[in-house]
Amino acid sequence: MKPLPYPLSGGISPVFSPFQLHMHHNMLNEYVKKTNKLANETEWITLDAAGMLLATSGKAEHAALHASAAETWNHEFFFQCMKPGGQPPSEEMTEFIKLHFGNMEDFLERMIYNAQALFSNGWVWVVANSKTAYEIVSTPDGTCPLTLGLYPILGLDLWEHAYFAQYNGRKQDYVRDWWNAIDWDFVENR
Ligand SMILES: [Fe+2]
Repeated sequence: MKPLPYPLSGGISPVFSPFQLHMHHNMLNEYVKKTNKLANETEWITLDAAGMLLATSGKAEHAALHASAAETWNHEFFFQCMKPGGQPPSEEMTEFIKLHFGNMEDFLERMIYNAQALFSNGWVWVVANSKTAYEIVSTPDGTCPLTLGLYPILGLDLWEHAYFAQYNGRKQDYVRDWWNAIDWDFVENR
């Protein structure tokens, strides 16, 4: 499992209280345990989560391992995309955002729109598609964009467990606070 790039005890200001971060990170620990248990007697035990989720994609008999490996990857990635207090985009990253998504406020509004449009549990992503263009996409449940041939550079968890208790279901407030916790240096280096 990838180590968190910040202490678990401090939460991720302004989006996750220490309690909320502990709770959510515990879920990742459970996904890791479940993935290892399910992979234990398969040929994929030596692979990382990305390798496992790709190897099991579309294989009905390994659906449980696929789902668990995908949620492991999604959550590890999600936690890596953030940093307490956030990290503002560099000049280069700001130019990249302008080129592909207009200004920062438009970009955020599009992320909120996609988040609001997701009626059940799922994820909103910024991905590079196969044509090396960038787009915002949503995936239901634990679907990982890697299985769709898309390369995520930013990911937002929109399962109810991520925001319902702390934000009393106010998805837009959650997305706005998450936006202020993004580590844009991590995104730039993807
Ligand atoms: Fe989650």
